Amino acid sequence: MKKIFIAAMAALAMPLMASAQIKVNISIDAAPRDSMMIPKEIYGQFAEHLGACIYGGLWVGPESEIPNTDGYRNDVLEALKTLKVPVMRWPGGCFADEYHWRDGIGPREDRPRMVNSNWGGTVEDNSFGTHEFLNLCEMIGCEPYISGNVGSGTVEELAKWVEYMTAADGPMARLRAENGREKPWKVKYLGVGNESWGCGGNMVPEYYSHLYNRYQTYCRDYSGNKLYKVASGATDYDYNWTEVLMKSIGSRMHGVSLHYYTVKGWDGSKGSATEFTPEEYYNTLGKAVEVESVLKRHIAIMDSHDPERKIDLLLDEWGTWFDVEPGTNPGHLFQQNTMRDAMVAALSLNIFHKYTYRLKMTNIAQIANVLQSMVLTKEDRMVLTPTYHVFRMYNVHQDALYLPMTCDAGTFTDGNGRECPVVDVTASRSQNGSFNITLTNTDLDNDAEIVMDIPGIIIREAEGEILTSGQIQDFNDFDAPEKVKPEKFGNFKIKNGRITIKMPSKSIISLSVR
Ligand code: AHR
Repeated sequence: MKKIFIAAMAALAMPLMASAQIKVNISIDAAPRDSMMIPKEIYGQFAEHLGACIYGGLWVGPESEIPNTDGYRNDVLEALKTLKVPVMRWPGGCFADEYHWRDGIGPREDRPRMVNSNWGGTVEDNSFGTHEFLNLCEMIGCEPYISGNVGSGTVEELAKWVEYMTAADGPMARLRAENGREKPWKVKYLGVGNESWGCGGNMVPEYYSHLYNRYQTYCRDYSGNKLYKVASGATDYDYNWTEVLMKSIGSRMHGVSLHYYTVKGWDGSKGSATEFTPEEYYNTLGKAVEVESVLKRHIAIMDSHDPERKIDLLLDEWGTWFDVEPGTNPGHLFQQNTMRDAMVAALSLNIFHKYTYRLKMTNIAQIANVLQSMVLTKEDRMVLTPTYHVFRMYNVHQDALYLPMTCDAGTFTDGNGRECPVVDVTASRSQNGSFNITLTNTDLDNDAEIVMDIPGIIIREAEGEILTSGQIQDFNDFDAPEKVKPEKFGNFKIKNGRITIKMPSKSIISLSVR
């Protein structure tokens, strides 16, 4: 491997050679002046009618031979409960703007079939609809985030959907009761369209803003339910979209969304999910951490219109996007998930933690069998991906107090000139007083020796877990479901109230410190 990527190590003036040890000092501020909680919604998920995300991934139907509870796969249910999923966005994505909710209620055998024109032309039977989604959210204890159809729907259709889900009385409530659900659901998050600049209607931001204002007027709060309305926001570097929405919609929205994918380029090959060179690995990380500058610019625009920060930013789609696995339907976006994806997840979450004064939710794409998934399923088998393990190891940060820190690990520069941390860290304090510290060593060859302190606190004990693997290309497959999995980690020493950690190359560590 060419070492030109390691450009700016703080401890070393020269690029690192293989087997050198990176020395890092980290100091965590246990008494931050502006206390900032990490909202649990930063760990949100996204489930779209796309490929095998819903059908086969979450839902197999009550008649299936695959073990299930009321049609939901038992293995996936268990995995999601362990993950502590705080919020799930549904039914799309691009699918949302072609979805007509009335097709997905009532007896399943009577529901019309539909062509999923966005995603491979697959015909689906609408057996997973509003009841199936909202009941799933109740079962796993997460908030639903409904993405409404603006592109091909009507104001009335969306307004009635809200009434159907949340009103205690009236015609829609009666229809819901006839379909087996007397009590209204609580639905907080309502997205008004998705990617309205593209698959959601190819609109310009001025036109979308006017449409948003009209749609949102008729989406009412029923029976004590309080909607949190999300405008369909920009993609990546489209700062003008955010500017126009802030000007034209303003406080009629509670939040505005943003989409950012770690993708090599939208034209041509996006690269294999499992076969990649070290150069491609570092470039992927460079693209992933570029989200920080993108967030900063959208936030700066929001700040200029809304200095009191009443409107939130929601990164409601993010994650890696590679070529589909060979032999699979190109419209189904099924990709494997390696230790590289785990690194992208960890570095991204570290960044998100820093901007929660404005960034209140993120939703990784997607929960099962699509893009950077948590789980992959094949018939009755399921594997947890390396990304799943990161989300599980990191879930201690949900609703914990964010702690700023200094870390002198320095950065490497990727093939596109982007700086990326060699060793990265994020920290929080849980309500029980313990410190949650998650560390990422992105270097493919070099271990790190990390000395960490928390001024004012004498570290006495710690417990750790590590996620690593022999090769950065390693992944979990149906024949080898546990190739990449977290292990107990104890390679640290506590002395004089400080902790020294020996961190292997290409690893992610979570420590609970007291
Ligand atoms: O996540 C896949 C697709 O990516 C979504 O449907 C769309 O919103 C985005 O372009």
